[in-house]
Amino acid sequence: MTTRHFLTLLDLSPEELNTLIHRAVELKQIRNNGDIYEPLKNQVMAMIFEKSSTRTRVSFEAGMAQFGGHALFLSPRDTQLGRGEPIEDSARVISSMCDVVMIRTFDHNTVETFAANSKVPVINALTDDYHPCQLLADMQTFLEHRGAIKGKTVTWIGDGNNMCHSYINAARQFDFKLQIACPEGFAPNTELVAANSDRVTIYRTPEEAVKGSHLIVTDVWASMGQEEEQKEREQAFTGYQVTPELMDQAESDAIFMHCLPAHRGEEVSAEMMDDPRSVVFDEAENRLHAQKALLEFLMVS
Ligand code: CP
Ligand code: NVA
Repeated sequence: MTTRHFLTLLDLSPEELNTLIHRAVELKQIRNNGDIYEPLKNQVMAMIFEKSSTRTRVSFEAGMAQFGGHALFLSPRDTQLGRGEPIEDSARVISSMCDVVMIRTFDHNTVETFAANSKVPVINALTDDYHPCQLLADMQTFLEHRGAIKGKTVTWIGDGNNMCHSYINAARQFDFKLQIACPEGFAPNTELVAANSDRVTIYRTPEEAVKGSHLIVTDVWASMGQEEEQKEREQAFTGYQVTPELMDQAESDAIFMHCLPAHRGEEVSAEMMDDPRSVVFDEAENRLHAQKALLEFLMVS
């Protein structure tokens, strides 16, 4: 059997993704019932983190433990990865000892090179270009709160970043319309937008982009690695904050998501985080359930 990887949402078919999201809902129930389910007993996940994380680390590590397996945290600070050992060699070595590898890094090419040299599944746990694991949780959260997302309208407000790119892929795979509001100079990748022009539209104001929308999503204005641009970005994104008043202009049953961590008072107001339409903490918890479904899909035949 060929090894499957999860580097972007396009690595799974729309049918596989839908099955996975429904399985995530079931795995959540299994855990809430207190039932023991250990399909990955004695299996080991290597977790390579070149950027910080709370949700991704905790969800993968807890998920592996709940599945009866084990997870190893590998930081470049204390492995040879940080001293320049080639990705190709690291992939051969790590994948000869572990059963699955998760990587959070900067350059998307790193996860592609690792996967090309790995004997075991490789999962993208965020690169500068994509964050597909977060989308699994977001799609599960929408399903649980509002039912199927197919045919709905989603609005992305803010930076055309890794999360925005994964939303574009999700629009294609889960079949929804995506309205993106971003300031000039902060648009998502032009080729990706062009390839999905049948369902993705760019707007210049959040007010236009939220019209008719069932889900409003935002993310920080300066992503990891862009800390030095924080001040300049705060200027550029003035007027792009998601507030209860902005939500009022969307559909009456619209909900709000944010992958977290959030900067209250910047991309989202403090009131919005606590608004009844905000599902951000369900969304965060679903990282656990959705990624367990992903691990089961990739590792249990
Ligand atoms: N949303 C997300 O990936 O969070 P962490 O950076 O805490 O993992
Ligand atoms: N766009 C953010 C997402 C964090 C989960 C970043 O890359 O820092």
